[in-house]
Formats: sequence, C-alpha cells, structure tokens
Amino acid sequence: MADKVREIFDESGQAIEFREGLEGVVAALSMISSIDGEKGILLYRGIPIEELAAHSTFEETTYFLLNSRLPKQQELRDFEQQLKSHRQVPAAVLDLIRSFPANANAMDLLRTTVSGLGLYDPDSQTNTVEKNIERAINLIASFPTIVAAIQRRRSGKEFVAPQQDLSHAANFLYMVNGEAPSEYAAKVLDVALILHADHGFNASTFTARVVISSLSDMYSAISAAVGSLKGPLHGGANSEVMSTLQEIGSLDKVEEYVMNRLATKQKVMGFGHRVYHTYDPRARILSQFSQKLAQQTGNTKWYEMSRKIEEIMRREVGSKGIYPNVDFYSATVYYYMGLDQDLFTPIFAVSRISGWTAHVIEQLQNNRLFRPRAIYPGPKNVPYVPINDR
Ligand code: ACO
Repeated sequence: MADKVREIFDESGQAIEFREGLEGVVAALSMISSIDGEKGILLYRGIPIEELAAHSTFEETTYFLLNSRLPKQQELRDFEQQLKSHRQVPAAVLDLIRSFPANANAMDLLRTTVSGLGLYDPDSQTNTVEKNIERAINLIASFPTIVAAIQRRRSGKEFVAPQQDLSHAANFLYMVNGEAPSEYAAKVLDVALILHADHGFNASTFTARVVISSLSDMYSAISAAVGSLKGPLHGGANSEVMSTLQEIGSLDKVEEYVMNRLATKQKVMGFGHRVYHTYDPRARILSQFSQKLAQQTGNTKWYEMSRKIEEIMRREVGSKGIYPNVDFYSATVYYYMGLDQDLFTPIFAVSRISGWTAHVIEQLQNNRLFRPRAIYPGPKNVPYVPINDR
C-alpha cells in the first residue's frame, strides 16, 4: 500500500504528494451519501442503509436521493405514478435495440442505448435543475425497460411491454421473464436496488460528474458512467463472482482455488474495496438474502461455496482489511432468482441510475470543471528525428 501514496517531484522540482488512483483525495463536497470505511457504515442523506433496506422502497429511496428529503404520502404516490408513466421508451429506441447484434455485451448495449435515448430528447442540451429532474425520472423509469429489452433481444425473444400495476422492481422482473414475479422475488430485488442506488464518489459516479462538469449533458454523463460501471474492478465484479463460483465447481475445491489466487497475487472477485476496510454493510444484507434463497430453492451449493470463500479470505487477508463487497453476495442472490449472469451488472445500473442522476444534478448546482494534473516524468527537449533517420 505504501507505494500507492508517495512523495514525488513535479516539473519545477517541488515535492508533492501523489495518490495513485486518487486514493483518499477529496474531489468535492456531496450531500448524497456518506461512507465510514473503517466502521462499515453507509448513509444515504444521513439515513443508515439498513433502515432504508428494512423500511423503504426503491421508488421512495430514489425520491429521497433526488429531492434531499423523504416524500410525504401523496408525494410518494405522485412520484410512483410519474415513474410508471415514463416506463415506455420511444419505439425508435426499441428498434435500435432490435438492430443490435444479439451476441453483444449487455453493458455495451445499455451504454449505446442510453446514448441513443438522448437523441429523442429535444432539450437534451438544456441543463436547468427542472429539466434535469424530469430527465432523471425518465432515465430511472426507462432503465428497466431498456435492460429487459436488451436481455430479450440477446435471447431472441419478443419484448414485453411494461405493466402499470407493478412496482418498479416487480415490473422489471415481469419484463425480463414475461410473467409476474413472486412477492418475495420482487421484494428481494427491491432491496437490492435500494442497496446499490448510491455510494459516494465510486468510479462510475465520479465519471458522470467529470463529464457533466464540462457542462455537457446528462445522457453523455450517464452513458460514460455505464461504461465505467461495466469494468470488473467495479460493477462488473458481480458477474465475475458467479464465473468464479462456476469455475471452482464444488465446495471441496474452494480452499485450493482461493489459496492459489492469493499465492499468485490474483484478486478474488467480490472482495476488497477502496473505501471499506471492513465488512461492506450492503454485503451483510445481501448475504442473508442469498442464504434464504438458497434454502428456498433447495440449491445451497453456491451459498455454501460463497461462505467458504469468505471464511478463507477472512483467515488469510482479513487483517489487511479485505472483506466481501456488495458484488460478492449479489451474484448468488441474482443467480438464485433465475436471472441470467449477463444481467447482473445491468441490474446494478438499473439501481445506480438514481445515484448517478442525483450526482449530475448536484454537480451542476455548484459546478467547477474537474481538471486534475499529471506529472510528466519523462525526458525533455528531445530532438525531433526526421522520419528517414529513425
Ligand atoms: N483479492 C485479493 N487481494 C486483494 C483484493 C482481492 N479481491 N483486493 C485487494 N487486494 C489486495 C491487493 O492485492 C493489494 O495487496 P498488496 O498491498 O499486498 O499489493 C491490496 O489488497 C490493495 O489492493 P488494491 O488493488 O491496490 O486496492 P484498491 O483500493 O485499488 O482496490 C478494488 C479496490 C479495485 C475493489 C480491489 O479490491 C479489487 O480489485 N477487488 C476485486 C474486484 C471487485 O470485487 N470489485 C468490486 C468493488 S465494489 C464496487 O465497485 C461496486
């Protein structure tokens, strides 16, 4: 870790602190969420994530993130209605999805579709708060429809139109599977969406803020954020966790696999975090759902393997502050719910779109262009060598 924060000299010979990957650098003040990485505490606008997971819904949490306060009864009803009325996406956008190669990466399809959606917003360049809140609601409502359509396109099935009488989470599952989910499945997904909705200056949120800080537009910021979330060091890890479990194959092979990864200095996916040096509070909640779903489906293998990986990782690298992150148990939760592995990261986006849009709006309220510096440690005054002399 020591070499990741070190003193270096800039071009004028002045000593400066260099934090690789901007570790610990404060880039802005933000009122949206707060993380205590030592104690394992996550708050959305001051409320502990456990409270929201136990009592709120994704719709209410989204209102809270966008509007800085919890809604009253009628405000929540109106907001839910607003989200429902924006579930349809333009037919041309659905045609765009139909035109994509069926075997393309689901996150690439999502990124390109979000970009395409912006072309159907005649005011996309207007960055007032009112317009951006309208746009945020439209994006949050459209993401499940787009992701479900992408999934159906990839599996060669016809799209399923959104249902007005289902919640955000239940409607998403309905559009993916073509049938209404059980109450429990809808509840589990609703909580998973709450848990993934925001998380400080994570890579994708920071990406969105950097893009909007040039006074670009929300669609550009969100498509860039989707691109960032896709990476296996960030949101792409949930799908990698499932690949890991499948690669290991059985409980008796877990020890050998994990020990080999650690010995060869390879990461075990779903573990470690830039901010948390203890148990991620979201992983704690998701591990309980994973256990319940394992019991309900009668297929406890994947949950037991996950517990075993956790046990070995605690024993071997717990003292270095490496614990399960949000992606570790969300993988088996989604798997037990019968969701395709390629959908895991897009589902993360279906949730994080709430946080991304809240951050874009917040960034614009007190905007300053993000423009850090890089130190050039190479040679100077290098002569230009004509092409024939090289
Ligand atoms: N498995 C094994 N060792 C690990 C892991 C892991 N998953 N994560 C960190 N470490 C070790 C590193 O090898 C390194 O050890 P060293 O100091 O002896 O060289 C030390 O912990 C620090 O690791 P970094 O990669 O420098 O830590 P950083 O803060 O940059 O990384 C990250 C955070 C990228 C999340 C990292 O832990 C990782 O790659 N995890 C696996 C991928 C993953 O699960 N990503 C999802 C994160 S949550 C999210 O984005 C939604």
